[in-house]
Amino acid sequence: MIFGVLKDIKEGEYRVICTPMEVASIVGAGHTVLVEKDCGAKAGFPDEAYAKMGATVVETAKEMWERCDFLAKVKEIEPSEYGYLREGQMIYCCIHPAGHPEEVQAILDSKCIAITAEDSHRFGSPNCEAAGKQGALFGLESMLTINGGKGKFVGGFAGAPGMNVLILGGGVVGQGALSVLHALGANVTVMDINAGILRLLGDRYNQKINTMYCTKEAIASVLPQTDMVINCVKWPKQRKDFLIDKEMLKLMEPGSVLVDISNDDPGAIESSHETHHDNPRYVVNGVVHYCVSNIPGAVAYSTSVALAGDTLPLLLNILNNGLTEACVRDGFIRRSLTAYKGLLTHEETSGIQGRPWIRPEDVLGIAERKLDPAPPATTTRSTNFITCCK
Ligand SMILES: NC(=O)c1ccc[n+]([C@@H]2O[C@H](COP(=O)([O-])OP(=O)(O)OC[C@H]3O[C@@H](n4cnc5c(N)ncnc54)[C@H](O)[C@@H]3O)[C@@H](O)[C@H]2O)c1
Repeated sequence: MIFGVLKDIKEGEYRVICTPMEVASIVGAGHTVLVEKDCGAKAGFPDEAYAKMGATVVETAKEMWERCDFLAKVKEIEPSEYGYLREGQMIYCCIHPAGHPEEVQAILDSKCIAITAEDSHRFGSPNCEAAGKQGALFGLESMLTINGGKGKFVGGFAGAPGMNVLILGGGVVGQGALSVLHALGANVTVMDINAGILRLLGDRYNQKINTMYCTKEAIASVLPQTDMVINCVKWPKQRKDFLIDKEMLKLMEPGSVLVDISNDDPGAIESSHETHHDNPRYVVNGVVHYCVSNIPGAVAYSTSVALAGDTLPLLLNILNNGLTEACVRDGFIRRSLTAYKGLLTHEETSGIQGRPWIRPEDVLGIAERKLDPAPPATTTRSTNFITCCK
């Protein structure tokens, strides 16, 4: 199988899915590796380093898409790449399919095999840890007077109190934000709907943080004293309500900050819309919003190293054993299969976009095998099944 490392072309995206270290492992396993020119340059990995590990450097994206059986990159398939997709070719990247109907249509039309990277991480995505930690720092940057914030220093100075921060959602992203802000001396409250998470975090920080069960009323009760909200709740795509609506935003003081790391569309924050690194902030009702959708791209070296290391076993499983066997052995690869030769295999996308879907184990003919278990990637259910696939 010829494996290819693509250069990411999303605005402000500098990460790479394999560093030269992972390329060495893949070449060592007997596979041919092509890398697109400059794929790792912005993350600190020059073409020569890939070549030294046995990869062939390819000049153009077109040639990469034409020559490779299996391609990988970090972020979505961009519209300019739709024309390259072809039948039977495998592509692994963050597709975010439920929120991107045009991308899904291009994938289905091409009959390629698409795997959604964000659903594939058994131990939580390194991207999420990076987004939480770096998102907290971007929130602090947004709080600066020079950026429209009220100019409070995170941990305060002698005689001047520090910031009150509210973190919504104590998952991988929320925990990343919490670790940074707590270490810098912020007074942090975490809200979640999972009492186990709240107990765990309270214990981890020796009850030096506040935890609250999350409701709109609880949020409204703390917003007037809150300097910065960090939203880390993965909002179910079918929900039409908000955790913070535009009226509630008025409870915050002017110059307060709202960091929407989750960036779901539609999401839990009514006033939120996606921004990019080149123009990351906007103001609503005096509240500075920071809503960049690829925060980890700003720390491209560290996230590339963490993400590539986490992804390597998955890539090797597919390369060494083939997709079908990899889906038997790893339930997290199976649940991230999004489209297979023209058929949608992603339940959340079916539920949100009203398209029919077929279970990965049915389309691959492995339903009767002993399968590695994995929890569903989302809470969205769809009974809009395709019953026959061949
Ligand atoms: N902007 C970026 O660059 C970026 C990068 C990575 C991830 N993300 C996004 O961040 C979000 C969070 O990711 P994660 O890995 O931490 O998810 P997660 O599933 O690990 O955590 C989500 C947490 O939210 C809690 N929760 C669910 N409903 C809630 C509610 N109504 N109120 C309060 N808490 C609630 C859950 O119990 C869980 O603890 C996702 O939407 C993800 O796509 C964004």
